Amino acid sequence: MDAIRVTDGIYWVGAIDWNVRNFHGYTTPRGSTYNAYLITGEKNILIDTVKRPFFEEMLSRIRSVIDPSKIDVIVSNHTEMDHSSSLPQMQEVCGATVLASRFGVEGLRLHYPTLRTEMVADGQVIKAGGKTLKFIDTPMLHWPDSMFTYVEEDKVLFSMDAFGQHYATSKRFNDEVDQAALFQEAAKYYANIVLPFGHQVQQTIRKAQEIDIKILATAHGVIWRTDLDKILSLYSRWSSAVTEEKAVVVYDTMWNSTRIMAEEIAEGIASEGVRVDVLKLTDTDRSVVMKEVLDSRAVVMGTPTLNNTIFPSVADAAYYMKGLKPTGRIGAAFGSYGWAGGAVKQLHEIMKSGGLEMPFEGLELRYIPHEEERGKCREYGRQIGRKVKEMSAGKA
Ligand code: FEO
Repeated sequence: MDAIRVTDGIYWVGAIDWNVRNFHGYTTPRGSTYNAYLITGEKNILIDTVKRPFFEEMLSRIRSVIDPSKIDVIVSNHTEMDHSSSLPQMQEVCGATVLASRFGVEGLRLHYPTLRTEMVADGQVIKAGGKTLKFIDTPMLHWPDSMFTYVEEDKVLFSMDAFGQHYATSKRFNDEVDQAALFQEAAKYYANIVLPFGHQVQQTIRKAQEIDIKILATAHGVIWRTDLDKILSLYSRWSSAVTEEKAVVVYDTMWNSTRIMAEEIAEGIASEGVRVDVLKLTDTDRSVVMKEVLDSRAVVMGTPTLNNTIFPSVADAAYYMKGLKPTGRIGAAFGSYGWAGGAVKQLHEIMKSGGLEMPFEGLELRYIPHEEERGKCREYGRQIGRKVKEMSAGKA
């Protein structure tokens, strides 16, 4: 397999994972890539590696440019195993020391005890074979160890997980692929991986604005060589919880009562002129839900009561969302019950603990919603819709 030229002396030598459909609990219908990069010159530098099963693919791409044993330095921008698990094998091949941030060195030693590593500090600059590499700590993008590596001569920023997409394609650059698919995957990636770290994203964007970047070489998906302003401004928007005049209704149902409630609430929201999506959890993965939550101003969740508690698929999505902390949005909980309720109250509390503002009491109905109850649901939806509009107007 061949390397792909990124710019003079810099090559993509990563791997395409066409078949991955679940990336630590996040569905990846378009697969992914693990991007490693080779910088050639008087010294040869490898930026990151690939997931262990793809080591041979990376090696063959390196071999298309240089003898892999001639690599002098390896940089590990991030310890997570989709990027680091080929480091021990790569070190065996070339003998190069692995440079990483302070937390990176600590994490790498805990993953691979015999790996030879050396710490580089935030802002540290090294000269290697005619290239100037600057290391920039970007903690929590996506782990505490994460850092960017910037090559001054070529204005290439190796941005690790940031600005990535789980998107397997035969093309390597952003301007070569379907734009709708690209931005959908970039948004889904942000919503499921980066969302809890808005503050750190803003700090990183400030750091990125201080340097002149021509190419954003990410660790997943395509490399940004155009539209850098667009992806940076989306990260700025997403990290500031800038949302649209939109609500998402997420529910599951046992005997259709909670489904009827979901659809009536959505009618009520829409009647106030607010866009609304309705997602049933049995048929929709939680990571798809989060992509819709990203630009929604209201998140409305519905659950039947099953054995005195929340329906399992709704509990799964609610706890997943709680971890991703979608602050800056309102939430509301609803659902139907038979013998005894309680699930809606529990759901309300989980949503609140995840950072949603919960301005309404939960709406809980017994058995089947008939005309009067349907009307209550529509009115509940109208209240949510009005609140979304108020927030749009800056009154909330
Ligand atoms: Fe792609 Fe956080 O690893």
